Amino acid sequence: MRQSLVIGNWKMNGSLQNNQALLQGLIQGSDEALQKKMGVCVPFVYLQQIKDLLKNTVISWGSQDLSEQDSGAFTGEIAGSMLIDFGCKYAIVGHSERRSLYNESDELVAKKFAKAQKSGLIPVLCIGELLEEREAGKTENVVKRQLDAVINSQGIAALANSVIAYEPVWAIGTGKTAFPQQAQDVHAFIRQDIANRDATIAENVQLLYGGSVKGSNAAELFAMSDIDGGLIGGASLKADDFLTICQAA
Ligand code: 13P
Repeated sequence: MRQSLVIGNWKMNGSLQNNQALLQGLIQGSDEALQKKMGVCVPFVYLQQIKDLLKNTVISWGSQDLSEQDSGAFTGEIAGSMLIDFGCKYAIVGHSERRSLYNESDELVAKKFAKAQKSGLIPVLCIGELLEEREAGKTENVVKRQLDAVINSQGIAALANSVIAYEPVWAIGTGKTAFPQQAQDVHAFIRQDIANRDATIAENVQLLYGGSVKGSNAAELFAMSDIDGGLIGGASLKADDFLTICQAA
């Protein structure tokens, strides 16, 4: 039985004051069972604050990116070992905003995935197609290509200790959520593609859906058999909305 998981991706949002109010709201509105399903991936500079505020809870936290390098002359980069120092459990890799705005290739994402695992983090690998790719009937090709970049370089066993988030790019921040069946179809394809190489890993890997998930549509998405939870952007910035989504998982 796969454990449900809902991760808030705060993106480049937050302030010391707002983070405190948000996390206090999450803590007050949840019991331990709910907190076990909850994670937040926050801007690097707030990791110490998040570590302090969440230390007596079972809510997990992580980063939104990491360097593919270990250490050294890489100005502006953050290493996996540094994230471990701040208690991170997860590191998002390959978010579509990093792929599109910062030109991250499938190969770079695979290196970041590997570095996260080597550092002791669980990579949350984001994959998903653009609108024009969906309209051209290429959705499955695109997610398979993005997944294969990791599997072919790291081996199928690497997926055992990872989370995969399917985020159709056209659904991110647009208010246009995939229909539950549309999302389920891609999730089932991803799980089958993994099962063709390792059935046990396919059965156990958590597949999250992301893209305009809200309190009002979370339950129907999470009811789908291959959707194990969500990766939440905008709605993770309000305690009540995020709690409603976590309760639906
Ligand atoms: P929204 O929930 O704001 O659409 O963002 C989804 C996302 O990109 C999470 O990583």
